[in-house]
Amino acid sequence: MCGVVGVVGSRPCVETIFEGLKRLEYRGYDSAGIATMSAGKIHTAKSDGKLVRLEGHLKELPASSSIGMGHTRWATHGAPTTQNAHPHVTGDLALIHNGIIENYRELKAELLKDGYSFKSETDSEVVLHLLSRELKTTPKMKDALLKVITRLEGAYGLGILWAGEPEALYLVKQGSPVVIGVGENENYFASDALALLPLTKSVIFLNDGEVGRLTKSGVELWDFSGKQLKRAPSVLNWTAASAEKQGYRHYMLKEIHEQPAVIANTIARLVDSASGKIDTKEMGIDDLDLTRVKSIVYVACGTAYYSAMIAKYSVEQMVGVPVSVELASEFRYRDPYLDKDTLVIAVTQSGETADTLACIKHAASRGCQTFAVCNVRFSSIPRSSTATLYMEAGPEVGVASTKAFTSMVLCHYLFGLAIGQKKDRISKESYQQALESLRQLPSAVDRAVNAAGLIEDVAAKYYEATNFIFIGRGPSFMVALEGALKLKEISYIHAEGYAGGELKHGPIALIDKHMPVVAVAPLDGHYEKMISNVEEVRAREGVCIGVGDLQDDKFKALCQDYIPCPQVKDAALQTILSVIPLQFLSYYVAVKRGTDVDQPRNLAKSVTVE
Ligand code: M6R
Repeated sequence: MCGVVGVVGSRPCVETIFEGLKRLEYRGYDSAGIATMSAGKIHTAKSDGKLVRLEGHLKELPASSSIGMGHTRWATHGAPTTQNAHPHVTGDLALIHNGIIENYRELKAELLKDGYSFKSETDSEVVLHLLSRELKTTPKMKDALLKVITRLEGAYGLGILWAGEPEALYLVKQGSPVVIGVGENENYFASDALALLPLTKSVIFLNDGEVGRLTKSGVELWDFSGKQLKRAPSVLNWTAASAEKQGYRHYMLKEIHEQPAVIANTIARLVDSASGKIDTKEMGIDDLDLTRVKSIVYVACGTAYYSAMIAKYSVEQMVGVPVSVELASEFRYRDPYLDKDTLVIAVTQSGETADTLACIKHAASRGCQTFAVCNVRFSSIPRSSTATLYMEAGPEVGVASTKAFTSMVLCHYLFGLAIGQKKDRISKESYQQALESLRQLPSAVDRAVNAAGLIEDVAAKYYEATNFIFIGRGPSFMVALEGALKLKEISYIHAEGYAGGELKHGPIALIDKHMPVVAVAPLDGHYEKMISNVEEVRAREGVCIGVGDLQDDKFKALCQDYIPCPQVKDAALQTILSVIPLQFLSYYVAVKRGTDVDQPRNLAKSVTVE
C-alpha cells in the first residue's frame, strides 16, 4: 500500500526520489519521508500529510547526496504522524518498509527487554532494531539481513541505507512488491514500476524470498538461502506520458475518456478484423490445457470482482462449464474444494492485490491451472499464474477503477468466445453476432463518453443526497453494484446496489422521496421486469434516475431524470456501455462535493496487505 522509491547514482538524488514519490501519490498515503546518505552520514526529512508538506522539509537534506530512498506511508500500525513516517533511523542505519510485520509485538517486547527504545508506534521499526542488533555480531549487511528475515512474519518490501556501505542500497521482498530499475550509471528501486517510468524502462521484478543490493554500477541478487541469482531485466511497454494527467483535471476523468481507445485497441489486438479469428496465443489461452478444464472459479476483489460476476453470465454460457465467482478475501480462508480440473482465474488491475495473489498460490498448490486477467505486466499475480491475458489498458492511476473495469469485462467476453469457439460450442450465427457487437462497441463507447455534459447536470441536482440505491437485472445488476461502489468510494455517499428482483425482499423499505434510485435498464431480456421495479419505486415516491436506450420513451417517462446510453445486442458487452454514465455520475458528484477524486480518503490503489 505504501509507496517506495530509492536511487543510487552519481548526481544529486533528492529531486529524483521526490518526483518518484509524486508518481506514487495515487496509491494513497498519509505521511512521507526521505533519507539520504552524505559523507557517510544519514540525513532525513519527514512530514505528516501530503508530499507538499514534505517538500518544505527537503532543504534539510544535503543537496549533493547521490544515494537515498523515500517512502509514502499508508498508516496501519500507529497514527499518520511525522514520528511514525518512514524512513526509520537508528545510528547509521535507515529503513523503509511496505507491508505488515505480523509478529511485531513479540519482537518489540524482546527488543525492549534488550534495552532498545522505539521512536515510533509502527511495526516497521522492529525490523530496524533487529537489523541494528544483528549487525553488531554479523558485520556484513547481506548476512545480517538473511538472519533477520528468518525472524519476520508477514509481508515486507524493505529498503535499507547503511553507513557501513555508503555506496549501496539493500532491498528485501517478501509479500510486498519491489521492482529494480536499471539505469545508466544509476540504479533504482520502487514499489511500483510507474515510479520509475521517466527514469528507465529496464526493470527487474523481485520474487518473494529475494534480497537485492544496488550500487550505481550494479545489481546483485540472492535468495533467502544466500544463493546468488542471475536475472535479465524486462522491458516495460508503458510510456511516462501515459501515466500523466495530460490536461485532464483528474486521472479518473482522463481514464474514463480513455475507454473508447482502450476498447478499440483491445479488440484490434485480439480479434483479426478480416477473419474474425481470436488470437488465443496473445490471450494466453494456448498456454492452458483446456481438456482439463471442467469448472472455472474466478477470484477477485472490488471492481475486479464485479467484472468477474459479469463473466459468469458470458463465459459460463460460451465455455459450457460451471463458473463460480468468489471474493478473494473469502476464498483464501474457506478451504474451497479444488481439483486439478478446476481453472482458477484471478482478475486484477494491479496484479499485486494480496488476497487475490494468495488465492492463486493456494490454487497452484492444489494442482489447479491458474490464469490471470491483469493490466500490469510482470506484476506478482501473472508471475504466479500458469498463463496471463494482459489487458493492456495502460496505467490506471485514479484509485477508482474505470477503464480497468470495462477492459476486464471485454477480456472475459473474448476469453469465453475464444474457448467456446475452440470447443465448437458456439454456432456460426452466434459467433457472427458476437463479432458484430464487438464491431459496434468502440464507437458506442465513444458516444457514451461524449454524453458527459448531461450527466454533470444530473450530478448537480443530486450531489447533496445522503443515500443512493442502484438497481439492475442480469449483467446490469453488476453495473448497479459497480455504480454504487464508485459513488461511495469517491463521494463518500452511502450507496448500495441491488438486483431489481431483490427490492421487495427488504430494500424497498428504504424508498421515499429522499432516496434517489439509479435504475439501469437496457433493452435486454430483463427490460420489462426492470420497468416493473421502476414503477414500484415511483409508487413509493422514490426519485428515479434512469439509464437506458436513447429512444426508450416508456422508461424515460417514468424517470425524473434520464441518461440515454448507447446499446449493443449482447447483454454482457452492454455493461461496458451502461457503466460509463455511472462513472461520470460518481465523478461529477464527487467534484461537486469537493472530495479528493483521485485519492479518496482511507483507500489505496493497490491493496498489497490484507
Ligand atoms: O488491482 P485490483 O484490480 O486487484 O484491485 C481490486 C480492488 O482493490 C479495486 O478494484 C478497488 O475496489 C477499486 N478501488 C475500485 O474502484
